[in-house]
Amino acid sequence: MLTGDLVRLRPLEPEDADALYRWHNDDEVMRWLQSYYHESLAGLRKRLADRKENSHDKVTLCIETLEERKPIGIVALREADPINARATVDIYIGEQEYWGGGYGTDALRRVCRYGFDTLRLHSIELSVVEVNERAVRSYKKIGFQVDGRLRHSFFRDGQWYDELLMCVLKEELC
Ligand SMILES: CC(C)(COP(=O)(O)OP(=O)(O)OC[C@H]1O[C@@H](n2cnc3c(N)ncnc32)[C@H](O)[C@@H]1OP(=O)(O)O)[C@@H](O)C(=O)NCCC(=O)NCCS
Repeated sequence: MLTGDLVRLRPLEPEDADALYRWHNDDEVMRWLQSYYHESLAGLRKRLADRKENSHDKVTLCIETLEERKPIGIVALREADPINARATVDIYIGEQEYWGGGYGTDALRRVCRYGFDTLRLHSIELSVVEVNERAVRSYKKIGFQVDGRLRHSFFRDGQWYDELLMCVLKEELC
C-alpha cells in the first residue's frame, strides 16, 4: 500500500467492479478522459478478473480516502520504459464530491514518488485537455511542466480541443 496525506493507494480488487461501473458511466467523470464507449458491468467484471498483476510495465491502483477507506478513483503508471526510465501516468477521481479537495493531487504526488524512488523512473509524463483547468492546476502544483501541445487531438461533443503534454522530472516533484 502507498500512503499519502489524504489517500491510500491499493491494488484493484474484483469488488471494485461496481464503483468502476458507476464512474465509467458518469459523463462528467469521463468528459476529459480518453474513453469513448460506456462499459457494461459484465465487461468490467471480466476485465478485472483477467487483468495482469501489477508490474514495472503497468501499475494500476485504487485511490481510497485515508480515514474511511472509501474508493474514490484510479491512478495508473503505464508503459514504463526501462532504458529511458520514463512512464505515463493517468488519474481520475470518480466520486465527484471529492473533486477540488486535494485527493487527486495527493494520489498523483504519491504515485510519482513511488515511480521515482522505487521503480527508478527519471521522468513521468501525461496528456491533459487544455480546458480541464482543475487538472492542469493540480499537475502544475506538484511540479509538472508543459512540454508541448497537441493541436486538435481531442474530440468531444462535436468540438476539437488541444491537449497539453506535461512532464515532471524526478528532482522537480514537489
Ligand atoms: C483532475 C483531478 C485528478 C484533480 O484532482 P483534485 O484532487 O480534484 O485537485 P485539487 O483539489 O488539488 O485541485 C487542483 C487545483 O484546481 C483548483 N480547482 C478546483 N476546482 C476547480 C475548477 N472547477 N476549475 C478550475 N480550478 C479548480 C483548486 O483550487 C486547486 O488549485 P489551488 O490548490 O491552487 O487552489 C480530479 O479533479 C479529477 O479526477 N477530475 C475528473 C477527471 C479528470 O479530469 N481527470 C484528469 C484527466 S487528465
